Amino acid sequence: MKSQRPSRRQFMQSMIASSTLGVGLTGAVVSDAAPLVPPGEGKEANDEAYWRWIASQFLTNPSIAYMNTGSRGPSPRQVIQAQFDAITAYDTDRLSYVTYVDTMERRAELRARLAAFVGCDADEVALTNNTTEGMAFGTLGLELSPGDEIIYTNHDHNGGAQPVNLACARYGAKAVVVDLSDARFHPPENEDMLVEAIADAITPRTKLISFCHINYTDGCCLPVKKICDMARDRGVLTLVDGAHPPGMLDIDIHAYGCDMYAGAGHKWLLGGMLTGFLYVRRDVLDQVWPLVYSGPINGLSMYGSEVDDTPYNRQALTAARYEMRGSRNSSNFASMKAALDFHEAITPAAIEQRVRYLAARARDGLREIPGVDVYVSEDPKLSAGLVSFTLAGVEPKTVNNELWTRHGIYIRDVTHPEIDWAVNRASLHIMVDAGQVDLLISGVAELAKENKT
Ligand SMILES: Cc1ncc(COP(=O)(O)O)c(C=O)c1O
Repeated sequence: MKSQRPSRRQFMQSMIASSTLGVGLTGAVVSDAAPLVPPGEGKEANDEAYWRWIASQFLTNPSIAYMNTGSRGPSPRQVIQAQFDAITAYDTDRLSYVTYVDTMERRAELRARLAAFVGCDADEVALTNNTTEGMAFGTLGLELSPGDEIIYTNHDHNGGAQPVNLACARYGAKAVVVDLSDARFHPPENEDMLVEAIADAITPRTKLISFCHINYTDGCCLPVKKICDMARDRGVLTLVDGAHPPGMLDIDIHAYGCDMYAGAGHKWLLGGMLTGFLYVRRDVLDQVWPLVYSGPINGLSMYGSEVDDTPYNRQALTAARYEMRGSRNSSNFASMKAALDFHEAITPAAIEQRVRYLAARARDGLREIPGVDVYVSEDPKLSAGLVSFTLAGVEPKTVNNELWTRHGIYIRDVTHPEIDWAVNRASLHIMVDAGQVDLLISGVAELAKENKT
């Protein structure tokens, strides 16, 4: 099911091409002559020379340890270059660009590439602007009646939860919130307790379960397949908030068996800002109405005439219908394609292993520090690239500020007093190296020591 990946040689050629183009880009992008081939060929998760070379493809100031990909992933230079080239080409010769470059066929090719990357079929995926948009399409597109119920958890992001509450407010439906605030979920001992917590909330009126593949609060990976299988057995639809896994893990949406999956392109996938996707399983396509839509309806145009069988009109029959909504920033699509090239050249499996290696290093090091609690599991089924922790007696915001001002370490806090949740969170992606993880650990240890004295 997975796509043919470009060879290392092709990847390097694209690197060389992108680093020598330099059409009007700032010096930061092109004049900073990066090595054109990575030192060493190894892709082992702990091959620092290889991964440092990969990290050097990002523009991040070397004095900064960027550990907040969970909010926004910086793009590597070739992704920025591709986006810049698209903008340049568009404004240089707009007619040629829309005739030969930004065409329906190219857009379909990108959907096919993305679909192969995430493990679904090309007609089941739409290019969106962000995760929130996909979550809103998935929830608000359903037909609901008063008394229907939708489940979400209180460790979801508002991008997934608030569309549920909006749908409920509009249709007189009921939001049923699964409480994951109890300490036994941080970390959970096993996957089944998460499946059970959600299963217990199902009633005969439940229409949809909306939940995160990876919680942004604690970094917990939910057992997506088990939850979706359980929901399917009980006749309930599933909508997965996949803001984090694409680009972090080697994901396979068909294997999860979910009905809908909303992902981000501008986080771990490292695409340009305002990129994302929504997967809708072919069999449920007609249950999910497009919310913003200007395409044919029941095969008819706005004049009531039958529409021609063109690539544009055919989009109405597939998940591409969720894209039929006026002008889009097509340079984002160029950046998405370049981001897929980048990931596929390194390989999603190698990236996942590197992310897990860095996260485990952070987790294990932080756990050793007196006063530090780590909330993410050691079990690889329940954890991945987000590491949440607290330092006793120091506000998470203070920890952020101190790490930033003293060491240039950029992490974030996730603070929600309503659910008694206030932690620091580090995102460990491939622009981070092992030395920076060690700096995080020693930086927190330094704060712990000062706090004690
Ligand atoms: C779990 C989760 N869902 C949704 C979002 C919103 O993502 P986007 O900005 O792509 O809409 C975030 C953002 O951090 C998130 O962490």
